[in-house]
Amino acid sequence: MTEPLSPEHLAWSGRFSEPVALLVQRYTASIGFDQRLALVDIEASLAHAAMLNHVGVLSDADLADIRRGMAQIEADIRADRFEFRLDLEDVHMNVERRLTELVGDAGKRLHTGRSRNDQVATDMRLYLRYAIDDIVSAIATLEEALLDLADAHSATVMPGFTHLQVAQPVTFGHHLLAYVEMFARDVERLVDARHRVNRLPLGAAALAGTSYPIDRVMVQEALGFEALCRNSLDAVSDRDFAIEFVAAAALFMTHISRLSEELVLWMSPRFGFIDIADRFCTGSSIMPQKKNPDVPELARGKSGRVAGHLLGLLMLMKGQPLAYNKDNQEDKEPLFDTIDTVLATARIFSELVPGITVNAAAMREAVEEGHATATDLADYLVRIGMPFRDAHEISAKAVRACVSQGRDLSDLSLSELKALDQRIGEDVLAVLKIEGSLASRSHLGGTAPAQVRAEIAWQRKRLRAA
Ligand code: ARG
Repeated sequence: MTEPLSPEHLAWSGRFSEPVALLVQRYTASIGFDQRLALVDIEASLAHAAMLNHVGVLSDADLADIRRGMAQIEADIRADRFEFRLDLEDVHMNVERRLTELVGDAGKRLHTGRSRNDQVATDMRLYLRYAIDDIVSAIATLEEALLDLADAHSATVMPGFTHLQVAQPVTFGHHLLAYVEMFARDVERLVDARHRVNRLPLGAAALAGTSYPIDRVMVQEALGFEALCRNSLDAVSDRDFAIEFVAAAALFMTHISRLSEELVLWMSPRFGFIDIADRFCTGSSIMPQKKNPDVPELARGKSGRVAGHLLGLLMLMKGQPLAYNKDNQEDKEPLFDTIDTVLATARIFSELVPGITVNAAAMREAVEEGHATATDLADYLVRIGMPFRDAHEISAKAVRACVSQGRDLSDLSLSELKALDQRIGEDVLAVLKIEGSLASRSHLGGTAPAQVRAEIAWQRKRLRAA
């Protein structure tokens, strides 16, 4: 990018008696970060130009010139040889200035009946719409990866935790399906937010609409928007569509962060439940034995950054009177950073998940050390006629005895169990086995291996239909 010049002929310089200070140019320019809107800016301008021609405001020759010039600019941008100039402030003026250089007066006529205020709101919505589509498909790929891993471990036993204490046996497949549910809701939220992103502000002009006989619906349809923004003041000023997206993104990152935390715990030698392929880990420059789960740790950290962007955008919006204020230029960096972070994270996790190997023996050992079938014993006692509160008490006493003897509940013999209550029969032994506990939880949403396999099939079907 060029150094700031002192422009005599900026789009708005006619009103001014001295050039804007260089410091101010640098402070107010957005070209450093909004140049990524260039292609959607051209897309929207072409739709606007076609509409102006259709309603008789722009001649056929001008429209042809604009199309030709924009084709050249688009090619230059794609080939990375377009020179963005800081002195031209933002992406809109950079594109327009170049267009005018290329095709003359037709370039100057393009801005008829619009303002940068409705232009930038349109660009942001178009850009975000495309980004949401990329993110949704990246998260779907992550869901597939989780389903594949869950499928391989539909019957792999692991401890289910509450308070990070062993609670009840679950299957690793079931545990992974919990994240599939979370990510599926994240996608639902993004798809829902997309409907409100996908409305056309163009036509609002600076704030009050325009006196030209514009056809907004024609532009709406050309750009694939679902609806029009129906109030010009709102159209140019509110950024709730971006805030809503960042909120959904922050929730996705929160879910990623929970998964990351678990991966970090599971990979620590204290748990030893999983290993993550070397290509996703890094070593320590000082401790030769270390293999660190950097990707999950970084993702956990990045989730904080995206949550911060949400708060930043809310604060950006809350004090603004109608309609457009320059404050809104500050919507871009948090929004773009959120998009980049979410996309990169979804993509790297889709690659990382297949690189997880499971130490099933360590998982089983942890279940066996945790008296994880105590609830099953209590439930058994209820089935043979005991009130649940009493059953809970007896089962708890049995656990206490096991703890003092350094044994697990599932090691107790039939006669030891019968000593708890004479009504206890031989069938209790199956109940205390981990497999028995798992198999008994065979309802929708339960952890039984058969249920997990059925759920994986259901989720796969849902993804295929999406
Ligand atoms: N770069 C500006 C932004 O991002 C474009 C709109 C500028 N409008 C204005 N009236 N200064 O918000």
